[in-house]
Amino acid sequence: ASADVTQLLLSRIRDVPDHPEPGVMFKDITPLLADPAAFSALTDALAEIAVRTGATKIVGLEARGFILGAPVAVRAGLGFVPVRKAGKLPGATLSQVYDLEYGSAEIEVHAEDLAPGDRVLVVDDVLATGGTAEASLRLIRRAGAEVAGVAVLMELGFLDGRARLEPALDGAPLETL
Ligand code: PRP
Repeated sequence: ASADVTQLLLSRIRDVPDHPEPGVMFKDITPLLADPAAFSALTDALAEIAVRTGATKIVGLEARGFILGAPVAVRAGLGFVPVRKAGKLPGATLSQVYDLEYGSAEIEVHAEDLAPGDRVLVVDDVLATGGTAEASLRLIRRAGAEVAGVAVLMELGFLDGRARLEPALDGAPLETL
């Protein structure tokens, strides 16, 4: 994204101290979503990545990845596939368990939504530890599809999600706006 777009996006992300728990600085994207110029610029920037990486499908990660990924899919003329928290999708699913700092989590995708020949760009708002994105790449590969890359609005650098994600990317780009 251009410096102007980056500046616009940054100006619409609100820092909320001590949410959801003391000591955590929450990055709230709702001001960005509520601003049509910023939301459109974000959609354009992500759609440009989708086109440049040769993606044929967009995977969005629940829940904010749905909000960002769906308009990107429409703008780039691609299909949208939701990766959901376990237990939400009604059809036959592939599921992937991954480690959190304390405990574990599980995400799922409809098996029929991804297939060999698909080239998938994963879209989300934040890369934190990288655990969710890493698990989504495993789902995509298990479905027989190819990974075009991962595109996020922001990366919490101090959590080093990029390093965790690197092996699963297997050479595909992680693009952060
Ligand atoms: C947040 C964020 C990413 C994920 C990043 O979602 O939107 O999807 O966490 O964390 P990680 O890199 O450490 O895996 P959250 O689980 O809060 O879900 P929500 O969007 O449904 O609130």
